[in-house]
Amino acid sequence: MNQISPVVIALDFKDKASTLNLVNQLQPELCRLKVGKELFVRCGPDLVKELIGKGFDVFLDLKFYDIPNTVAAACEAAADLGVWMVNVHASGGRKMMQAARKAISGTSQKPLLIGVTVLTSLSRQDIAETGLDIEPELQVLRLANLARDSGLDGVVCSPLEAELLKQEVAEDFCLVTPGVRPAGSDVGDQQRIMTPSQALLAGSDYLVIGRPITASKNPLKALEAIIADCQIS
Ligand code: C5P
Repeated sequence: MNQISPVVIALDFKDKASTLNLVNQLQPELCRLKVGKELFVRCGPDLVKELIGKGFDVFLDLKFYDIPNTVAAACEAAADLGVWMVNVHASGGRKMMQAARKAISGTSQKPLLIGVTVLTSLSRQDIAETGLDIEPELQVLRLANLARDSGLDGVVCSPLEAELLKQEVAEDFCLVTPGVRPAGSDVGDQQRIMTPSQALLAGSDYLVIGRPITASKNPLKALEAIIADCQIS
């Protein structure tokens, strides 16, 4: 394979030793890595730099949400770390996203800048309680359009929303999708899932997959099976 697969492995580990135990079984030619809040708060930027130093593309999944100046500075710091992708909450608004875009454009690394629309953990009622009496899918579409208009490269979304977003926002808008499970695997706490090949056919560009790989007895074999499924699409 001369291209890295669309798989981004969610490194939801508590410490550096468990993280490196997995990562040392992988190769940067096969997949990318996602560092989220738990691992970042425990191990910090040094571990991110170490993963990048091993040749991996790293998605820093910290979902920034703050005033424009603060988010711009955080995005610039992420770019200076050398990450491949970073994200912000689209609900932070146009000015915040534009400031993030501008800050990243001034760096040499220029990571992909991705928006988070509506957290998939929120039901219609949860959203209504925050003052938004709207179908979650409509809010996802609204925020995805705002993210595109503010200069973002794409959004995180459910694979079930991918087709709609490719049609209604833009064909080249980058869609990053968790909620992916290989056929026959344990779904864990994910509810609305698709297989890797289904998600790619629906329009996903990158598949964020954690436990089917990280909790496997043979993570490399699990990853290779997922990559084989991706090639069906
Ligand atoms: O282990 P699993 O494949 O469920 O991991 C999915 C990853 O994607 C986790 O890091 C989780 O926090 C993240 N995620 C998600 N659903 C969202 C957004 C992010 O599962 N809506």
